[in-house]
Amino acid sequence: MNTILVTGGAGFIGSNFVRLLLAQTDARIVVLDKLTYAGSLLNVPDDPRVHFVRGDIADRALVWSLYEEQRPLWVVNFAAESHVDRSIDGPRDFLHTNVIGTFELLEGARHHVATWAAELGDRFRFLHVSTDEVFGSLGVSGLFTETTPYAPSSPYSASKASADHFVRAYATTYGLPVLVTNCSNNYGPYQFPEKLIPLNLLNAIEGKPLPIYGDGLNVRDWLHVEDHCAGILMVLQHGRVGEKYNIGSFNERTNLEVIDHLCGALEALLPASANAALNAAGLHSYGELKTFVPDRPGHDRRYAVDASKIRRELGWNPHYNFDSGIRATVQWYLEHRDWCAAVQQGRYTRERLGLRA
Ligand SMILES: NC(=O)c1ccc[n+]([C@@H]2O[C@H](COP(=O)([O-])OP(=O)(O)OC[C@H]3O[C@@H](n4cnc5c(N)ncnc54)[C@H](O)[C@@H]3O)[C@@H](O)[C@H]2O)c1
Repeated sequence: MNTILVTGGAGFIGSNFVRLLLAQTDARIVVLDKLTYAGSLLNVPDDPRVHFVRGDIADRALVWSLYEEQRPLWVVNFAAESHVDRSIDGPRDFLHTNVIGTFELLEGARHHVATWAAELGDRFRFLHVSTDEVFGSLGVSGLFTETTPYAPSSPYSASKASADHFVRAYATTYGLPVLVTNCSNNYGPYQFPEKLIPLNLLNAIEGKPLPIYGDGLNVRDWLHVEDHCAGILMVLQHGRVGEKYNIGSFNERTNLEVIDHLCGALEALLPASANAALNAAGLHSYGELKTFVPDRPGHDRRYAVDASKIRRELGWNPHYNFDSGIRATVQWYLEHRDWCAAVQQGRYTRERLGLRA
């Protein structure tokens, strides 16, 4: 049985990917996760094929022992500090995990893979999960392609860009069989409620203000997490070694449009008239909760991904459109209020982050 090492597998996208691997492969899965505020054992499936290790991807001794003992066929690196606002408040953790951590995973692979090459043949893959934010901000037109130059704006995107460069350098210099995916904004089940969609969804359910940064017209390209994970699996199985693949669904929305869409989907499943918290605040619609707040420093205006390469070469296509994806997500959060409470407990109160002092 093949072993797949999934770093960050107790976080949002990583845990969705573990569920996909369980459903679509017979592999054994080793999850390496530090369990920061963003990671939770509640996200990790309880399955005999999943082996959980709590630890830091920047811990060289641990990483090397995992390579030696587990001999993974694939390494899929999701582990990261992932929230732009937190990178404004404290960039050091982003350097530690996103850059040093990725470097240690690459070093471990470089030193160990050769020792079991006979066993794995040329099947070993190191897939690094990255973001479209490395490309910086677009004007009103144009799309990010795989050859768009990097121009990161935030400490988060700068750290992800740096990691992407290390991954590429390990392929060029040492011949490590790497793949890099750069994906647009994700939404869906198990997303920590600091990010736009779950934060506003939970605030709306609880009758709290829906914060809209600046004029609300910043544009992001939204993809359901399960479609992202399916794309990553296809890249692992069929992607050309050394290549980069953009993943996105040509689904651009302003933040205001996203929040309006959320309010509409929530109204259909939990009508405002039946929401006690909203009624107690004297409000009659979710839209009345919208509140403009100061913008994020250095807020990129527009991201949009050209995902035609992964469609053309690998035949990947998203299963969800924005309507079906948001509806399923709202339903999931309404049905998992205990999870929402547990992951925030003692860690986060949905306060505003990322306002430079
Ligand atoms: N969320 C998005 O919209 C999006 C879009 C494109 C790319 N990405 C990338 O996908 C990856 C996963 O993002 P996410 O949204 O699931 O993030 P997340 O914050 O939900 O999860 C990150 C996970 O990494 C773990 N972690 C953090 N530091 C670690 C360390 N030093 N060692 C081991 N584990 C550590 C955390 O405990 C957590 O479980 C990240 O690399 C991110 O840059 C995210």
